[in-house]
Amino acid sequence: METLDLLFAAAEGARARAYAPYSHFSVGAAILGSDGTVHAGCNIENAAYPEGTCAEAGAIAHMVMAGVTGLAEIAVVGGPEGSAEILCPPCGGCRQKLREFGGLLAKVHLRGADGKVRTFRVEDLLPVSFGPEHL
Ligand code: THU
Repeated sequence: METLDLLFAAAEGARARAYAPYSHFSVGAAILGSDGTVHAGCNIENAAYPEGTCAEAGAIAHMVMAGVTGLAEIAVVGGPEGSAEILCPPCGGCRQKLREFGGLLAKVHLRGADGKVRTFRVEDLLPVSFGPEHL
């Protein structure tokens, strides 16, 4: 299977695990680590709303726990629970997290309702960003 198809399949599998009883919006993300390994995550909400976590954050946590801190690519799928996906761009906080582990050039793959994949670089999604080299 092509890497991109594999990443989207893993993201879809993760989306099926989403815990989103408040927003009813389920998201899945799958990372291709710099060593070729794949790490997935889903959004996990909380009755105390701000304590919920995004799918991208879950995937990053899995990656780091696997001993990988380099993110080459990430695929994200999301949409209303039980419905087909819609284009689901990473939130602002997740863009910063992707910048931490992926740098400016990591690829972010998003798939829209039409099934077409749109690929961005982190630097496109988070221009003029603050990063580790500022510290
Ligand atoms: N969500 C993500 O998991 N990733 C994003 O980048 C955008 C939003 C989740 C958070 C919340 O559980 C639900 O989508 C609705 O905002």
